[in-house]
Amino acid sequence: MKRFALLLNAGLSHAALRFACSTVSLQRLDPLVEPGQIPSAHVHQIVGGNAFNATMTGDIGEQGSCTTCAYTEDFSNYWTAVMYFRHENGSYHRVPQYPNAQLGTDGRDAPDINAGMTIYYTQKDFSSNGKQHITAFKPGFRMTVGAPTRNTLADARAEPGLRYTCLQSILTRGSETPDFPARPCPAGIMAIHHFPACWDGKNLDSPDHQSHMYSTTKGGFREAGPCPASHPVRVPQIAYETMWNTTMFNGMWPKDGKQPFVWSFMGNGYGTHADYVFGWKGDSLQRAMNDTCMFHGCGSPGKQGILKTQTVAEMNKCAVQRTVVEETDGWLTELPGQAQMTGM
Ligand SMILES: *[C@@H]1O[C@H](CO)[C@@H](O)[C@H](O)[C@H]1NC(C)=O
Ligand SMILES: *[C@@H]1O[C@H](CO)[C@@H](O)[C@H](O)[C@H]1NC(C)=O
Ligand SMILES: *[C@@H]1O[C@H](CO)[C@@H](O)[C@H](O)[C@H]1NC(C)=O
Ligand SMILES: *[C@@H]1O[C@H](CO)[C@@H](O)[C@H](O)[C@H]1NC(C)=O
Repeated sequence: MKRFALLLNAGLSHAALRFACSTVSLQRLDPLVEPGQIPSAHVHQIVGGNAFNATMTGDIGEQGSCTTCAYTEDFSNYWTAVMYFRHENGSYHRVPQYPNAQLGTDGRDAPDINAGMTIYYTQKDFSSNGKQHITAFKPGFRMTVGAPTRNTLADARAEPGLRYTCLQSILTRGSETPDFPARPCPAGIMAIHHFPACWDGKNLDSPDHQSHMYSTTKGGFREAGPCPASHPVRVPQIAYETMWNTTMFNGMWPKDGKQPFVWSFMGNGYGTHADYVFGWKGDSLQRAMNDTCMFHGCGSPGKQGILKTQTVAEMNKCAVQRTVVEETDGWLTELPGQAQMTGM
């Protein structure tokens, strides 16, 4: 361990990526937790490369032909559950997503991005790697954070990287809560997922998809603690931000004040979780993490930096054909897959 740290202290760098990926698919598939299962238990919203499928193995960066991410070498897949609104009459409606702010060229807004998420790869925080080399993930790497089975406040408190922000405007940050906001939010709800960034250095995955990783994140993009000896390799700190446009439901809150939002697995806010399958081509992610670029300085839609980029129109064009054909939108009498959800 000590030798490892000494060896790598040489090349200090400060890259921080923040970029948009539009939606590549929205359906009941989960190649990480339920590989080969068609359909999987609950609906996901997915961004990234179009190799996304019920079964995904090997080097995803070498599969597929396009990506919905601004960086054209990023064929990774990123996904979360989907948020639904439960009307007091018992019907459900999928909450639409909208793109985060300042993701167009040079940090301008790009409202034409098709839904999706904002993805971050940072170091210990935005501006420092804590004098530690950041090692990019290896082909085949995958992980999850959070779990649909968590349903207590104590569980949620234990994961400071999994939070919600009640958006007063698209730029609201901070004021994070461990559960869905208790009142209607003027500009929607941002769901935040910070992944663990300490790796055991050996396993590309683990049976629970989590124990090969260790989290020292304090949430809120604050500086993370040091990696433990069991998981000594600092990898990029990945975070997702998903902007859920809840505003169409603001006049429909139940009269008894009961929380109307549920995740697609029929769970409350505490069960929030997210999945990641690494798929950057070649050494592109390591090249970026070795650089000192920050956000748009690394490249933004249509403007090259250390990373190659594409335009918003090109991002939006990439899609995966649905394997699971069922209604996920409009007013539904039950959630997709609800009949099979027992005890959640
Ligand atoms: C997904 O997997 C099926 C086989 O299960 C295959 O026929 C199909 O081509 C795959 N799609 C993609 C996009 O790889
Ligand atoms: C519940 O309310 C929504 C919104 O008014 C409506 O579209 C839907 O049909 C209602 N569902 C039932 C079962 O009445
Ligand atoms: C959010 O939803 C409302 C109501 O449907 C819509 O008018 C508005 O344009 C949406 N906002 C964004 C940023 O997409
Ligand atoms: C990244 O930096 C490390 C340490 O300085 C170096 O060994 C490696 O070759 C670099 N990789 C790339 C792709 O630039």
